[in-house]
Amino acid sequence: MVTDKKLYIETYGCQMNFSDSEVVASILADTYSITKDMQQADLVLINTCSIRENAEIRVFNKLREIQHLRKKNPSVKIGLIGCMARRLKEKIFNQGFKVDLVLGPDSYREISKYVAATEKEDNIINTALSEEETYDNIVPLHFHSNGVSAFISIMRGCENFCSYCVVPYTRGKERSRNPETIFREAEELFNNGYKEITLLGQNVNSYNWKDYQFPQLLNELARAKPEMRFRFATSHPKDLSDTLIDSIKNNTNICRSIHLPVQSGSDAILKRMNRKYNREWYLNRVNAIKTQIPESSLSTDIISGFCGETEEDHQKTLSLMEEIGYYYAFMFKYSDRPGTYAHKKYKDDVPEEIKTRRLQEIIALQQNLSLQSNKEDIGKSYEVLIEGFSKRSDKYLFGRNSQNKVVIFPAEKGLKKGDFVVKKVIRCTAASLFGE
Ligand code: 5AD
Ligand code: SF4
Repeated sequence: MVTDKKLYIETYGCQMNFSDSEVVASILADTYSITKDMQQADLVLINTCSIRENAEIRVFNKLREIQHLRKKNPSVKIGLIGCMARRLKEKIFNQGFKVDLVLGPDSYREISKYVAATEKEDNIINTALSEEETYDNIVPLHFHSNGVSAFISIMRGCENFCSYCVVPYTRGKERSRNPETIFREAEELFNNGYKEITLLGQNVNSYNWKDYQFPQLLNELARAKPEMRFRFATSHPKDLSDTLIDSIKNNTNICRSIHLPVQSGSDAILKRMNRKYNREWYLNRVNAIKTQIPESSLSTDIISGFCGETEEDHQKTLSLMEEIGYYYAFMFKYSDRPGTYAHKKYKDDVPEEIKTRRLQEIIALQQNLSLQSNKEDIGKSYEVLIEGFSKRSDKYLFGRNSQNKVVIFPAEKGLKKGDFVVKKVIRCTAASLFGE
């Protein structure tokens, strides 16, 4: 039964959250269709992120801001779902505004039931975590997608307990999805005209279904659908094995772009972060990638100002970035998260202005490295999967190459979204390549 009720979902945080919102939309599709206009919605869901304090502050501001929806439509229901649910359930209900529903990331299967219950009861809540839930039989409603590229979530949760990170507490234990359902979803995306799939997981390369592991899954997916491109995120360096490198190397449709969060270049900090590798080990993995797949691009995540970080530690991060020459990086100031090991055991002792200054130095260096990496591409030709018109002008199309770099080029008759085209790079900025 499809009614004309409308659902608006706003998502914060990582790609896993965006993927989860697509699962939620699919589960609710019997009763709700998606709207992009919050004012029209009968149900508003905010899918939240807890990774840094700022992310949580933004969500609280949003919740406050949307209370006015109730004036226009007193029957509107507002739900907060995702990573903040478990951590902050009491606080959410005590903020002086109304939230009808609070659900953690493993409670979505029953969301229709919970939404219906909000008609009769206040403060509906379920934040229990599961050891099994992977939503494996639910085909997501790909409402974020451009019709060319889609996500498939293949594993959930994390048990690495990096000392700064809330994810093991907000998303629970690691669990992998039955591969049959992954192949089925890929087949369906292919039949619907999609050209690129990004396999997602908190530690995607730790995927393990009864000893069927990530390198094998990736290899077999790439062979089953040679017409499609495959990407994956996010990898943990500890599971970036030679077998995985072989899988990538042996399949040209697996993209030559590896996101390998390093977090810090200093062994003392890596140890305190409980990252389970040191600088030398990480560099060894990078060298293996560079030797086996020289055309690959590398990106990373970096945290500045972790507990006890000295100037010397910070310099080691800068020198590591330079040594590797990342084409892109996500860079953050350390944010103390209640409940984590770092919060309990270490002092958040790097002053805010020093964290900021170090982060600025990291960003400035990355800007140079991105430009340098892009300059090296001038004169080379790449296959680009077209994603649409450039944001600035419909005289230009844009897409990505296998290295995940954005390539912008003049629109031509006959070329459209979803086409593969080979383009020679003629100039660049730090952010994009320009094709002829
Ligand atoms: N403070 C700052 N950055 C963090 N990250 C995770 N936890 C924190 C924190 N407490 C960053 C890491 C991770 C990315 C998703 O977010 O770099 O790889
Ligand atoms: Fe957080 Fe570390 Fe798990 Fe990534 S691997 S989600 S940083 S605990």
